[in-house]
Amino acid sequence: MTSSADAGPAPGRSRRRMALGAILHGSGGHIAGWRHPSSPPDGQLDLDHHIRLAQTLERGTFDALFVADVVAIWGHQYDSLRRTARADHFEPLTLLAALSTVTERIGLVATATTTYNEPFHIARKFASLDHLSAGRAGWNVVTSVVPLEAGNFGRDTHLEHSTRYLRAEEFVEVVRRLWDSFDDGAVTRDTASGHYYDPAGLRTPHHGGPHFTVRGPLNISRPPQGHPVIFQAGSSEVGRAFAARHGEVLFTVQTSLAGAQAFYADVKARAAAYGRDGDHVLVWPVLSPFVASTQAQARARLAELQELVHDDVARRLVQDNIGDLDLSGYPLDGPLPHIGATNRSKSRQELMLDLAHRENLTIRQLALRFATGGAVVGTPETVADHIEEWFTARAADGFNINFPYLPGAAEDFVDHVVPELRRRGLFRHTYETATLRGHLGLPRPRVGASTGRRRTAAGDRGAAGQREGSGEGSR
Ligand SMILES: Cc1cc2nc3c(=O)[nH]c(=O)nc-3n(C[C@H](O)[C@H](O)[C@H](O)COP(=O)(O)O)c2cc1C
Repeated sequence: MTSSADAGPAPGRSRRRMALGAILHGSGGHIAGWRHPSSPPDGQLDLDHHIRLAQTLERGTFDALFVADVVAIWGHQYDSLRRTARADHFEPLTLLAALSTVTERIGLVATATTTYNEPFHIARKFASLDHLSAGRAGWNVVTSVVPLEAGNFGRDTHLEHSTRYLRAEEFVEVVRRLWDSFDDGAVTRDTASGHYYDPAGLRTPHHGGPHFTVRGPLNISRPPQGHPVIFQAGSSEVGRAFAARHGEVLFTVQTSLAGAQAFYADVKARAAAYGRDGDHVLVWPVLSPFVASTQAQARARLAELQELVHDDVARRLVQDNIGDLDLSGYPLDGPLPHIGATNRSKSRQELMLDLAHRENLTIRQLALRFATGGAVVGTPETVADHIEEWFTARAADGFNINFPYLPGAAEDFVDHVVPELRRRGLFRHTYETATLRGHLGLPRPRVGASTGRRRTAAGDRGAAGQREGSGEGSR
């Protein structure tokens, strides 16, 4: 199914291609999206609804759809939680496996945390999704932002921010080596000789490191894409360094063109410093479109949704995203109190505090701004203007579209904004490639390319530790 175009960008290709991804929250990305009159109340767990959404996005030739995740309920504060759809969502890989059977081209990207998983499970699941979808899988590598996850995995407290990234570093290395367990073509399934795979093409990782001991090999042949595409959204200093080393698509939340350009230039320079090609590190800011045929109608759509945000939800939105503070004694229409450093997502905390101080926002105003992060409100033409400006000004290589309510906002975008982007020559009319790597112009990793950087105890023993012959892994 892999076409020649999927081998990666042609040498000398200079024209940048713009990408579109979509965040697939069953009832929309806005916290009150599930209450929108056009959203199905059971949208979070309605498979047919998800299938229709995926097919709408594929009609719009989107590069990928993305399912975010936390491995916990979003909070113990049931007063606010019971007013959101956050307590009720599919496990992403299970959902994407189902969607892989009813879509043909769109990339399928899921979050999986390196803090509360084991590399073998993750390598295996994403390899399976890549095989199921004929090369359309992507892994959004996160280190977990929600401390409540700790309690579900035998820990009293969340791992410290820098420790989470150290663990993530080793985790990704092990996953890559597991994906490379079999050389391309090593699984020959040769019925005549009776050999299912060629033992010379088996590489058992024998990894031993500070966080993981993983013998391997993986029990599935190399993914069609070599490796599923690595997505990442680290924004703090350590997070950006991690993203620049490993990420192929970087999600980011940016509130101004200048800020987005600075982020773009920074991560591309960091990637270059690690010897990577900047064209293979794609930056996708989040964009939340409110589209209507007039500017006034688009603004009314935004206001309609904001009015559905309950006071308890607004307070928790600020509190949970800054972390470790209690705002219950503070009036919603007053300013934020002074806040010190916390163990939560540092970049998100800084983003929120900067915004509140810069624009002198009340707690409620900050919550509503956060609820519509990346909002672009306007006609199909003005939304396309924004996209074109950010793309041409090198603030973005693509966009991660966070539809505030579903399916209405996705249908409006696909029916009105995508045709405008196509008219301007910014976006594809049809899929020209079959795999997610192909759509994004990313090269297919060579076997073993990622294994040389850190030698493991077993790897240091030499080739025998890296490659294993007959008997190893065979039954
Ligand atoms: C578009 C986007 C999607 C994200 N999805 C998830 C997710 O599904 N699960 C999660 O735990 N964190 C998610 N994050 C958080 C990031 O992984 C990251 O932790 C955050 O941006 C803070 O960066 P830092 O870890 O460098 O402080 C997402 C961030 C962005 C911008």
